[in-house]
Amino acid sequence: MDAREMKVKAAEAALAHVEDGMRLGIGTGSTADEFVRLLAEKVHGGLRIQGVPTSERTARLCVELGIPLKSLDELPELDLTIDGADELDADLTLVKGGGGALLREKIVAAASARMLVIADESKLVNTLGAFPLPIEVNPFGHKATRIAIEKAASRLGLSGEVKLRRGGEDVFTTDGGHYIFDASFGRIPDAEALSGELNSIPGVLEHGLFIHMASLAIIAGEAGAWTLKA
Ligand code: 5RP
Repeated sequence: MDAREMKVKAAEAALAHVEDGMRLGIGTGSTADEFVRLLAEKVHGGLRIQGVPTSERTARLCVELGIPLKSLDELPELDLTIDGADELDADLTLVKGGGGALLREKIVAAASARMLVIADESKLVNTLGAFPLPIEVNPFGHKATRIAIEKAASRLGLSGEVKLRRGGEDVFTTDGGHYIFDASFGRIPDAEALSGELNSIPGVLEHGLFIHMASLAIIAGEAGAWTLKA
């Protein structure tokens, strides 16, 4: 089974958690895209859901495939969000934001009664941090914010490159018009401590550590799909 097939397997298993009438947060990324494609088939078969997309990219795919959408302002309380992750550990602490949608993803997940993560088994790690941590920042004063991030990390004994994400020649900007730093701190032994430090920096809008947000993960590997509970 290749990585795409595993993503499809995880997405298929996630569909079993979607019930008629649900208000559904819809994630971003290649795994979430597979879920959207399968969800569209169910919608065409009569399943009634209202989706809230976590990015413009996901919104476009949903519209293309005929999935009914609402904004989070129209539907501020959701039943379930289904989203991918860049890394997750056994406690269901996640690193997200590889696709650049972390702020909206976190807002949507926080507005949901439950968050379900779908991933291929390569995403499951013992300790988070091999994947650089995305940190979404206000463009205003972003160089000062980078220095503050480096100082905050060093208070926890962490160091490494904090790199401004680019999209080709230009600085990458999120759907909200913000920048992203990808922080290669290596192993993150205490995600809560790092989260607290980053959240105390005024220029940081959000970081990609999702702590105590996901209640269930569906992981797909060669042997099929299995679940991990928080
Ligand atoms: C986007 C995300 C994605 O969920 C994450 O990057 C995983 O993406 P993929 O399913 O393509 O591996 O956080 O901001």
